[in-house]
Formats: sequence, C-alpha cells, structure tokens
Amino acid sequence: MNNILIQGDNIEAMKWLIDKGYKEKIDLVYIDPPFSTGSVFSIDKSGRVATISRSDDAIIAYNDTLRGEDFISFLRERVILIHELLSKHGSLYLHIDYKIGHYVKVMLDNIFGIENFRNDITRIKCNPKNFERIGYGNIKDMILFYTKGSTPIWNSPKFKACESEIEKLYNKIDKNGRRYTTVPIHAPGETNGDTAKPFKGIYPPKGRHWRCSVDELERMDADGLIEWSANGNPRKINYADEHICKKAQDIWEFKDPTKPIYPTEKNTDMLEFIVNASSNENSIVMDCFCGSGSTLMAAERNGRNWIGIDSSEVAINIVKSRKWTKEISFIQCEGITRLLNRPNKKQTGN
Ligand SMILES: C[S@@+](CC[C@H](N)C(=O)[O-])C[C@H]1O[C@@H](n2cnc3c(N)ncnc32)[C@H](O)[C@@H]1O
Repeated sequence: MNNILIQGDNIEAMKWLIDKGYKEKIDLVYIDPPFSTGSVFSIDKSGRVATISRSDDAIIAYNDTLRGEDFISFLRERVILIHELLSKHGSLYLHIDYKIGHYVKVMLDNIFGIENFRNDITRIKCNPKNFERIGYGNIKDMILFYTKGSTPIWNSPKFKACESEIEKLYNKIDKNGRRYTTVPIHAPGETNGDTAKPFKGIYPPKGRHWRCSVDELERMDADGLIEWSANGNPRKINYADEHICKKAQDIWEFKDPTKPIYPTEKNTDMLEFIVNASSNENSIVMDCFCGSGSTLMAAERNGRNWIGIDSSEVAINIVKSRKWTKEISFIQCEGITRLLNRPNKKQTGN
C-alpha cells in the first residue's frame, strides 16, 4: 500500500478510513493529541524552526483550547474510532500530561476495558528545571498503553544497558579482556530425569535440579562457558557483550528535541522504540494527530506502512517537506471542522 497522509479533522478522516475498509486493519496507533493546555502553538515566520515563537508574525500551528469535559468528549469520540480501526492484535499508545492524564485514563478504560490497560509509562521529557512556583519540577509526562485484546503484537522490547550498569552487573574480566559474570547452573525443585543426573560426578544440591541436561552442561564446559571455583563449584559464564540489553521497564528517558521543527514535536527514537515493540514489518501504523510526522518517520524507517492525519496546514506542509522513501497518497478531507481553532494565548511548548 501507499502511505496515506490526510489533512482534515481526524473524526472525518477515520470515518473515511472505516468506509474504505481499514476497520481492524491497523496494528499500532500512537497519538500525541493536544493536552488541554489552553494555549495556541505557533511557529516563527522568520524561518527559525527552533523556536515556537511569541512574535506577532508567527503562524499558528494548532490551538489547544478545549478544557475539562469538552476536551475529554473530544478525545472520547476519536478513541472510539481508533478502537474500531485497531486490528485484534493492535495497540494504542496515548501520550498525555499529568494534569489531564488521569481523566483520560478513566475514559480509555471504558472504551478498551480495564483488562486491556497495560502500562502508564513515565516518559522523562527534559532536564530538571529551575522554577519559582510551589510544587516539584515537572520533567515527565505519561504514555497510556492499551491493547485491543489479549494477543497483541509484542516484540519483547529491550533497552541497551548503560556502561555503569554493565560494569556493576558484569564485574569480572577474563584473560581476553571480556567482561562477564557467573550464574548458578541449578534451579529450585527436584526432578528424576536428565537434569537430576551427575555432572562431572557432582549431583545438583538437595532440593534443586540442573537448569539444562547434563549433555548440554558438558557442551558448555567444553566451550569454556563453565567457571569452576577453587572448591570445585561450577557456574555458568554470561558475557556482557552477549547480554547488554535489559527488558524495558515503565520509566523511559527520551527527551524532546532541543531544535523542534514543530511545536511539541516528540522524540523519534522513542517512536521507533514503540513501533518496534508493538508492530511488525508491513503492519499499518497510524498517528491521527501526526503533527510534524515523527511517528510516520519512525514507521517508515522500520519497514511499516503508515497513515498520518492532521488538521493543521502547517503540520501537513512539514510532513510533506520531509524526505520519504515510499510514495504518499495525499487526501484532503472535505468539510474540515477546525475544532480547536479559537485563538487564545501563545506559548512555547507542551
Ligand atoms: C501535540 S501535536 C502532535 C505533535 C507530533 N507528535 C509531533 O511529534 O510532531 C498535536 C497535533 O494534533 C493536531 N490536531 C488537533 N486536533 C485535531 C483534529 N481534530 N484532527 C486532526 N488533527 C488534530 C494538531 O494540529 C497538532 O498538529
């Protein structure tokens, strides 16, 4: 399929997609909607893309002026359509802030079912700030992760461990300079099969069994993967360079770009991480609040198809101006309702 970019209100766009046969065809949706900040986000006309300007010649990228229940209703209508479009192995990642996020979570539980709520991911978004107000510095926002059902696409995402963690966990160095640690070769529970037999004349300790067959232990020993202690205790050698990844937890550090091309633009590495975790090659990934297209770029770089929707002409022009390898079908929704088009005050970021 061609990738699809739609300019218009995402309600109309998603209804159009359902009409065109995309119901239950989308494996991953990431959205970073307006956060109900009461602000208007703009870009400086001077061409300085780094700043989200307060100046009078700024062009408005999008308005974020819906508040309270109006905002939740706005999002609910869209989440219902997202739920329809998601495949039975599909997932939704919804990026939101700490002020409105808990209300959004309750709304999502109602649509996806609380049993399909997987994580409230804390995303560290910036460095600690100096500030005057009463309260703690806010350096995080949240990503609510839901799956459509019990068999989602899940590619067991891992993060690369940092140097200091590797040094702590793998505190030994072998004669070739390789960093390693050792782990027991036995586990709790007695068996009377292959894993209970003696290995080099040694039986597993009482109440335990070998983690693998004695043949496998012999092979590991021949390959130099068993370390024998001074008193003859065997342990398995794990090399750091073969185990440098650790299972991803629910606190992520992916700071926002310091020179954004679009207001509140998100970190593409984070989006690539999500794309790889919850979709497969050739899956369709959708971002129906796509802004500058960072999700779409993350999808394309990883061999996924994408659908991007945004009501802002500024956003669409930025997406169009980026370098894409695959062809894009561009569609303009008729009768765009610019729902968030009530100017308020200008501000610098989410
Ligand atoms: C927070 S920004 C997304 C930024 C994006 N994640 C990025 O990395 O560039 C939210 C986007 O939602 C768009 N938007 C708001 N309401 C919309 C609607 N009803 N339909 C389509 N897009 C909408 C805005 O134009 C804006 O570009």
